[in-house]
Amino acid sequence: MSNNLLKGKKGIISGALNSMSIAWKVAEKAHEQGAEIILTNAPIAMRMGEINQLASRINAPVMEADATSEQDFDNLFTRSLEHFGSKVDFVLHSIGMSPNVRKGRHYTDLNYEWYKQTLDVSAMSLHRMLSTAWKKDAINDWGSVVALTYIAAQRTFPNYNDMADAKALLESIARSFGYHYGSAKHVRINTISQSPTVTTAGSGVKGFDGFISYAEKMSPLGNADAGACADYCVALFSDLTRYVTMQNLYHDGGFSSTGVTHAVVEKLLPAE
Ligand SMILES: NC(=O)c1ccc[n+]([C@@H]2O[C@H](COP(=O)([O-])OP(=O)(O)OC[C@H]3O[C@@H](n4cnc5c(N)ncnc54)[C@H](O)[C@@H]3O)[C@@H](O)[C@H]2O)c1
Repeated sequence: MSNNLLKGKKGIISGALNSMSIAWKVAEKAHEQGAEIILTNAPIAMRMGEINQLASRINAPVMEADATSEQDFDNLFTRSLEHFGSKVDFVLHSIGMSPNVRKGRHYTDLNYEWYKQTLDVSAMSLHRMLSTAWKKDAINDWGSVVALTYIAAQRTFPNYNDMADAKALLESIARSFGYHYGSAKHVRINTISQSPTVTTAGSGVKGFDGFISYAEKMSPLGNADAGACADYCVALFSDLTRYVTMQNLYHDGGFSSTGVTHAVVEKLLPAE
């Protein structure tokens, strides 16, 4: 692959918690392709400290921002504009968290305060991020915003719980804001619907190992890993995808178009 797909581009990447994070790989690959990056994450993620190792390796400042705080996003974009001395070209939204999932509440018995937090952190935060960028005119014409999602927005995966509702909202925000940002500034906004991937957030979902192995058997290409997801993000940040916007793009080895596979049938009905 060329090393210059993002040469001269500047971007903000949220959600790199540790080396398993999808955002971590996106930051590494975007850097390899010539981009300048600012990393951001919640204050608690900063305290874990691993993000600083990535930051020094790719020479990126780290700016704290809680995704539920308008003030934090305001500071983030103000400081980003100052740091780069220009607008940004791309933004990655890689933020998800559900207290109901974490604390094992069943979908039929959600704690509604936690449900609000799930929607706020995991979905409304995309609106907040875009709205802040819009008001500050912080994204260049033909810039690109990508948010990560999961197919539980379209089909039921019972253990994904209220995160399914958050992802449905996230995808809708990408379309709705994509219209306004596209018509006004040619800024494109897409969601990537990623295969189940072993990360801190992913592993919090009950029965995650079963999820992963089922998806692996149901995907003609097998599950896409975090590195491959990062490659796709880089492609969407690049100028090669200028007319792609308001889409939910499956990056799942074919899972979303597959009805059944031999691998699954043979597991259910082993040959005699
Ligand atoms: N892992 C999977 O199977 C999978 C599949 C499809 C989509 N996704 C999505 O990919 C994205 C990244 O998740 P990941 O799997 O890399 O896990 P991860 O745990 O590495 O990343 C989640 C990130 O969200 C951040 N975050 C949580 N609350 C926050 C807040 N209040 N403010 C700012 N940041 C906050 C965390 O600090 C963390 O960096 C999420 O949106 C997730 O839903 C993951």
